[in-house]
Amino acid sequence: MAKIQQTFVCQSCGAVYNRWRGRCEACNGWNTIQEEVASAGPQSGPAATRPSRARGRVFPLEGLTGEAKEAPRTASGINELDRVTGGGFVRGSVILLGGDPGIGKSTLLMQASAAMAKSGERVAYISGEEAVGQVRLRAERLGLAKYPVELAAQTNVEDIVETLSQGHPPALTIIDSIQTMWTETVESAPGTVTQVRSSAQALIRFAKTTGTAVILVGHVTKDGQIAGPRVVEHMVDAVASFEGDQGHHFRILRAVKNRFGPTDEIGVFEMTDAGLAEVPNPSALFLAGRDHAAPGTAVFAGMEGTRPLLVEIQALVAPSSLGMPRRAVVGWDPNRLSMVLAVLEAHGGIRLGGHDVYLNVAGGLRISEPAADLAVAAALVSSLSGAALPSDSVFFGELGLSGAVRPVSQAPARLKEALKLGFGKAVTPQGRGEAGDRALPTDALRHIADLVAGIASGAPRRGGGRPKAVRYEEEM
Ligand code: TYD
Ligand code: MG
Repeated sequence: MAKIQQTFVCQSCGAVYNRWRGRCEACNGWNTIQEEVASAGPQSGPAATRPSRARGRVFPLEGLTGEAKEAPRTASGINELDRVTGGGFVRGSVILLGGDPGIGKSTLLMQASAAMAKSGERVAYISGEEAVGQVRLRAERLGLAKYPVELAAQTNVEDIVETLSQGHPPALTIIDSIQTMWTETVESAPGTVTQVRSSAQALIRFAKTTGTAVILVGHVTKDGQIAGPRVVEHMVDAVASFEGDQGHHFRILRAVKNRFGPTDEIGVFEMTDAGLAEVPNPSALFLAGRDHAAPGTAVFAGMEGTRPLLVEIQALVAPSSLGMPRRAVVGWDPNRLSMVLAVLEAHGGIRLGGHDVYLNVAGGLRISEPAADLAVAAALVSSLSGAALPSDSVFFGELGLSGAVRPVSQAPARLKEALKLGFGKAVTPQGRGEAGDRALPTDALRHIADLVAGIASGAPRRGGGRPKAVRYEEEM
């Protein structure tokens, strides 16, 4: 007989304890540990069901050369989505889609379902959160109600698998969301780590045996992790996150893990009254509404995957009344900002110790490239000095701790995008990166001091910055 065993499982990271405690030692979360009843204990799993054999079976080993087939894919027809998946959903693969509540996950998946149903594929949309009527209402609002998506509001995994196994299996199955699913094989409540893990396992098995592509919607916790056990992230073939700022209309779909495609591509959407609209040229969108004359803004020529993306970096440097000046960052790595500030102090001759520093990436975008260092430094120096940067310049380059401006990858693509959007000059690292024949004129810098000197002396001041020359010189 199976032994009933009590375990205490952290609901945020999945660590298991045999006693309750207030704080999880694995992830440092407070009050995240809950009691769960696991019926068979360590005896469960394949080992318990398979008769034990003294010896294993012999199987043939193969070489690296041989036939390798490209994974069969079904394109959704939404280009920005297909770009992130690597050209469409791979048959039998499982994608976990995470994102804040209300960001538009259900909207995106309804649009993808309808697009695939329109092209004649069988698509099932299983909602565990909303009633059928609510989902229908959304489809109607999106103008998609006429497409043959098969809809159900169900949460029992066994029922779902049984129903969808009838007849020809769907090309795409949406599970919205994995936290609402439960399986009869375990006794814990829906949403607990054990249930989420077991339900995900059953649905993954369903995908692998029938060849349907499954998308699991996953909730996100306060600190941005996909809620429930991290193990689900390891079990699935791809993890994507849908990001954006509630205050902005842009939404970005980013692949975090992808066994069948790239992980650095992003899909850009705009939330409109009629659902999510694709944004094929994001640079133009992110630069819209730019205040050309304001000191403290610099345009960064970035890359997201294979696609160049120009964004505005905004900095505000203001004298601080606090003993510990504030450093606040939106859309960039705070540690990276500390590093740039330290390099500016040590090698650019700028004192920022008595100033509050605020940094913002316009449009709600999040940048992770070190190539943004130079643009951030330029925005900071511009804000401190009150001298606006030339509005037709773009910046890119990584900063070393020695103050050196270091080359970055894909410079030609960055320059080409800037040229396309009408920029007249690029401030870049020295060396590689001439964009061929019709390149943008570049100002190639060797050291951070060159940047500071350039902004202090030559920068044409257009607009309302502080009139006096350069403030940081007075404070040195
Ligand atoms: P939803 O897809 O329900 O979010 P999630 O599934 O990630 O929780 O999207 C909800 C938000 O999207 C809601 O605040 C309203 C907005 N929205 C629009 O702006 N336009 C639309 O056409 C739709 C359907 C939703
Ligand atoms: Mg939803």
